[in-house]
Amino acid sequence: MTVKQKHYLLFLFLIIPVVAYQNCADNMIPEHNTTAELSSGSDAFSTTLFPVLRTNCSECHGVFQQPMFAVSDPSQALATITDRGLANLNNPSASTFVLKIRGGHSGKNVVIADQIEAAITAWAEQSN
Ligand code: HEC
Repeated sequence: MTVKQKHYLLFLFLIIPVVAYQNCADNMIPEHNTTAELSSGSDAFSTTLFPVLRTNCSECHGVFQQPMFAVSDPSQALATITDRGLANLNNPSASTFVLKIRGGHSGKNVVIADQIEAAITAWAEQSN
């Protein structure tokens, strides 16, 4: 188990009792769903940027090439993107991903940079 996985497990052990306790509270507003709120950020990622990266980048960055941001597990891909700061949700066009492809990378058509930028913009909108 890597250090990152250990930290993730620790996070889960810390957060599960919090979520469970809130669900048991008598005065809880029924529609308030803490678990859904916690996961909405990664749900937005997995329906926006993730498919674009899987389609265009996974032959290398999903198999052997660091950084491994296009692996099949979206939560792992997201962790790599977050750790490396590859997507800039506040300024999508300034994202490392966009700059890298726009500047020419591994024979990728620069049109893919536009797709990535649009996907990061959609992700940022859904995360708000
Ligand atoms: C044919 C293999 C291949 C494909 C496909 C590929 N890459 Fe890469 N990528 C590399 C290699 C090799 C490096 C390391 C050397 C370099 O930085 O160019 C790299 C590095 C990178 C980096 C640098 C990471 C950093 O920390 O600065 C980014 C960002 C990146 N690729 C994005 C992409 C994106 C986005 C796609 C898909 C649109 C993609 N790559 C597709 C081979 C590939």
